Amino acid sequence: MNLLIAGSYDEMSKLAAKRVASLIRSKPKAVLGLPTGSTPLGLYKELVAMYQDKVLSFKDITTFNLDEYEGLDCDNVNSYYRFMSDNFFNHVDINRKHTNIPMGKSEDFLKYCIEYEEKIKNSGGIDLMILGIGNNGHIGFNEPSEYFPGITHRVKLHKETIKANSRFFSCVEGVPRYAITMGIRSIMHSRSIMLLANGPGKAEAIKKAIREPITPKVPASVLQLHQDLTVIIDEEAASLLDD
Ligand code: GLP
Repeated sequence: MNLLIAGSYDEMSKLAAKRVASLIRSKPKAVLGLPTGSTPLGLYKELVAMYQDKVLSFKDITTFNLDEYEGLDCDNVNSYYRFMSDNFFNHVDINRKHTNIPMGKSEDFLKYCIEYEEKIKNSGGIDLMILGIGNNGHIGFNEPSEYFPGITHRVKLHKETIKANSRFFSCVEGVPRYAITMGIRSIMHSRSIMLLANGPGKAEAIKKAIREPITPKVPASVLQLHQDLTVIIDEEAASLLDD
């Protein structure tokens, strides 16, 4: 594991953007796994700036988003589809046909999840999976559990996740109870993984994820087994790490 502790959120975002840019430069057709949430906002800003400065192009990359709330339309302000358009896709030269986000509405979620997984496989697999982390150690929407869920699946969100994410909604009741998420196996199959976290609220989750025994009760802890994991966090998120 490669651990980078940045002095600030901005520095964390810049380090992450540098890593993404260097991958795309060496492999213009790279396949990226993308997260949502407040953590990667700075990263997306940096990437957009690189595009505007004409030092990076996204035109040949393919992306797969990690997750989506169930039941929200694409244009719903809280959907991850909308998040990606507003914060990244609409501002760069990415081919929208090569962007994939799990759909929050489906007649048959089981079939849909298998198709999403097949699509990832047919793209050649994910070169770099970028992750945030939930306060309870979740990655994507893989919640603490008795086992590590495998492929893309429908999940019931935990109360603490609903509460944490309610800050984006007008009220806690408005937060969907279910979501679609890539599974732990889908994430672990990526050729490389970059985990980002910032702020004191993530310190406990980071400590449990990278310094304590691997357990499905802290889904992010499984990342310790990945052969190419980079963890980029700010000093606050690193504050409970001993060395
Ligand atoms: C959500 C997302 C995760 C994300 C987490 C942390 O639950 N499903 O992918 O990592 O929130 O979000 P934030 O970055 O806003 O703290």
